[in-house]
Amino acid sequence: MRKKIMIANVLFLSAVFTISMTGKHSLTDDWAVPEKYTKMKNPYAEAKDSEQIGKRLYAVHCKSCHGTKGLGDGSKAAELKTKMPDFTATEFKSQTDGVLYYKTYIGKDEMPAFDKKISEAEDQWLLVNYIKSL
Ligand code: HEC
Repeated sequence: MRKKIMIANVLFLSAVFTISMTGKHSLTDDWAVPEKYTKMKNPYAEAKDSEQIGKRLYAVHCKSCHGTKGLGDGSKAAELKTKMPDFTATEFKSQTDGVLYYKTYIGKDEMPAFDKKISEAEDQWLLVNYIKSL
């Protein structure tokens, strides 16, 4: 009888542990995006970026944390407490352009707000297009 209770306890505790570890910072759950942004249309969705503005802005402002390919392995990533997102993941790509816009330009915690550094609408959206293409 005692042994059974102990086994049950161990199982219970390991389940709690697993849930608390995996539930720790998944990308979308605790990053509330206001409706104004979730529904925001990308006016440059079909724009051709022949000057590679998106790519260039990414190299200057984003690569150091998010990595060249968007895998979250930039040189600064190791210094961060937050789990880095993977821009190539389906979960990432399934978000609307407006959500990505909000996350990029309003930011949260260790993700800096870029609305001041990148303030032209065309630049802002070409960069959103670029991170989706990674
Ligand atoms: C100082 C490091 C750092 C820099 C520089 C940085 N980011 Fe981030 N970014 C983060 C971190 C950390 C997160 C995860 C934040 C969280 O989950 O709380 C994040 C998350 C994001 C997300 C949300 C990802 C998702 O899965 O929903 C987007 C979009 C994003 N960054 C875009 C950018 C863009 C575009 C740039 C460049 C203009 C940039 N970031 C520059 C650290 C950075």
